[in-house]
Amino acid sequence: MDAYGLNNEGMGKGQVGASAEAHKAFGNVLVLGIGGSPRQSGNTEYLVKYVLERVAEKGFRTEYISLSGKVIHPCKACYGCRETGRCTQKGDDFEPVYARMREADALIVGSPVHYGSASPIVMSLLDRAAFSSRKEGRIFSRKVGVPIAVARRAGHNFALAQLLYWFLINDMIVPGSTYWTVALAGAGGARDAANDREALATLDHLAENIAWLLEKTR
Ligand SMILES: Cc1cc2nc3c(=O)[nH]c(=O)nc-3n(C[C@H](O)[C@H](O)[C@H](O)COP(=O)(O)O)c2cc1C
Repeated sequence: MDAYGLNNEGMGKGQVGASAEAHKAFGNVLVLGIGGSPRQSGNTEYLVKYVLERVAEKGFRTEYISLSGKVIHPCKACYGCRETGRCTQKGDDFEPVYARMREADALIVGSPVHYGSASPIVMSLLDRAAFSSRKEGRIFSRKVGVPIAVARRAGHNFALAQLLYWFLINDMIVPGSTYWTVALAGAGGARDAANDREALATLDHLAENIAWLLEKTR
């Protein structure tokens, strides 16, 4: 079954990029996954790690950061970073995560949908990362940006768009897949992303496209 409910088994499967051998040369290329749920071991984490595993199989270096348990305050709009190139807020977990974002060649940002939007901690991280990077120029330019949103019922596309717009205003390149990179979760906070086979097929193809794009651009 493909993303449109049609019986198209081939869609989103198979190796469309270079072989795993060819990707081995890209072991220094870093794909960073950020899990933006306040919950550990939830659906967001499962999905981001799922893509990281597929990309690692192709020979890329991967790293995962969970925002669960971290404190990242919202941007205070003090404009201090315009002077120094660094966020003026200290004492929370922003700096180390931002440092890894700067290092990465590709950013996979996963978010749960909370009241129709990306999670507050994801948006706090992205706001501060983008604003404080401006002084140095376009540090995210031509990095690969990958959004993933997961919800029980509604709001995926809005949250996905929030992530997408962040990638686009930061001059990043976004690979597509055979469907929007969203997944369905069960009721009551079920940790069941693995049951959404259609989403996983979409993410399989997404991983192919991430590898293909990195190979072209790195
Ligand atoms: C505060 C809060 C708000 C939520 N809002 C929505 C929503 O607007 N739409 C929806 O379909 N699911 C909503 N959910 C359900 C989550 O999106 C869903 O459980 C998702 O799998 C959470 O990801 P996680 O397992 O990584 O935490 C909400 C959950 C919480 C805790």
